[in-house]
Amino acid sequence: MSTLFLVALMALAIVQNSAMSDDFNQLFQPNWAPDHISTEGDQIKLTLDTISGCGFESKKKYLFGKVSMQVKLVEGDSAGTVTALYMASEGLNHDELDFEFLGNVSGEPYLVQTNVYVNGTGNREQRHTLWFDPTAAFHTYSFLWNRYSILFLVDEVPIRVFANKEENGAPYPKTQAMGVQGSVWNADDWATQGGRVKTNWSHAPFVSTFRGFEIDACELSPETDDIASSKCGRVGEFWWDKPRMSGLNRHKSHQLKWVRRRHLVYDYCMDSGRFYEMPRECIV
Ligand SMILES: *[C@@H]1O[C@H](CO)[C@@H](O)[C@H](O)[C@H]1NC(C)=O
Ligand SMILES: *[C@@H]1O[C@H](CO)[C@@H](O)[C@H](O)[C@H]1NC(C)=O
Ligand SMILES: *[C@@H]1O[C@H](CO)[C@@H](O)[C@H](O)[C@H]1NC(C)=O
Repeated sequence: MSTLFLVALMALAIVQNSAMSDDFNQLFQPNWAPDHISTEGDQIKLTLDTISGCGFESKKKYLFGKVSMQVKLVEGDSAGTVTALYMASEGLNHDELDFEFLGNVSGEPYLVQTNVYVNGTGNREQRHTLWFDPTAAFHTYSFLWNRYSILFLVDEVPIRVFANKEENGAPYPKTQAMGVQGSVWNADDWATQGGRVKTNWSHAPFVSTFRGFEIDACELSPETDDIASSKCGRVGEFWWDKPRMSGLNRHKSHQLKWVRRRHLVYDYCMDSGRFYEMPRECIV
C-alpha cells in the first residue's frame, strides 16, 4: 500500500470517527431539570435556584480525545454553588475526570478543583486559583485524554497533568468510554471555605453559561466489548495518540510550572497526612 493511500485512509478514519461541532443540541441533551436549562443564541444557561440545579450530558461516549467548553461562571455571590464540567463512564467502578468550580462570596476567588476517578475511586484532588476573573468572561476549559496522560487545560494552559504511571502499579483510566457532562448545583456543605459559608438564597438564581462545545474524540459504540482492539483503542490512529503527545513541549512545561508556583493551593500528592501510603501515581 502506498504511503499516500495510507494517509488518505487515516484521514477518512478521523473524519468518520470523531465528532467536532459547536452545536449543543447535536452533541448534548439535558439529563437533570431541563426546565432550568435555557438557550440564548449559541449560549446554554444553567440555573440553580431553591427548587433545583440542572445538568446536561453528551449523547455519545468517547474513549480518548479532546473535549473543550467555554464557561462563564456564576457572578457576584456564588458561595455554596458548584459549576462542573466532567467526563464520566457509567456504573459503580466508573472512571471520571472533573473540573469543579467552587463559588465564593463576592470579591473572593473561585477555586478550581480537578479530580480523577479510576475504577470507582477518586481522592485525587488538586485545587487552583485562576489568573483571571472567571465570572467576567468566557474561558475555555479542556480535557486532553490519551493513553499517556490526562491534561487539564485552561485557555490551553496546562494546569494539571495526570500521567499514566501503570509501570509503578498506579491505575489509569483507559478501558471505559466516558460521556461529557455539565452541571450547576448546591454544594454548600463543602464547597466554599470548607463548607463554612452557605449559599445565600436571596441571591438566587445562580447562572453559569456554557458555549463553544467541542468534542474531538473517538466515539465508542455501546456494543464494543473488546475495547483494546476497537478503533479507539488502537495505537496511532488519532492525532492525540502520536508519540509527540506523550509529554509536554518546553513551552507547555514552563506554563505548568508557572501555574503550580502561582496558583496551586492543594495537591493530594503533597498531602502526606491524608494517606497511610502515598498513591502510586504520586511516586516520582
Ligand atoms: C475495579 O474494582 C473492583 C472492586 O470494586 C475490582 O474487583 C476490580 O478488580 C477492579 N478492576 C481493576 C482493573 O482494577
Ligand atoms: C474563597 O475565599 C476565601 C478567602 O479569600 C479563600 O480562602 C477560599 O480559598 C476561596 N475559595 C473557596 C472555594 O472557598
Ligand atoms: C444574604 O444576602 C442578603 C441580601 O444581600 C443580605 O442582606 C444577607 O445578610 C445575606 N445573608 C447572609 C447570611 O450573609
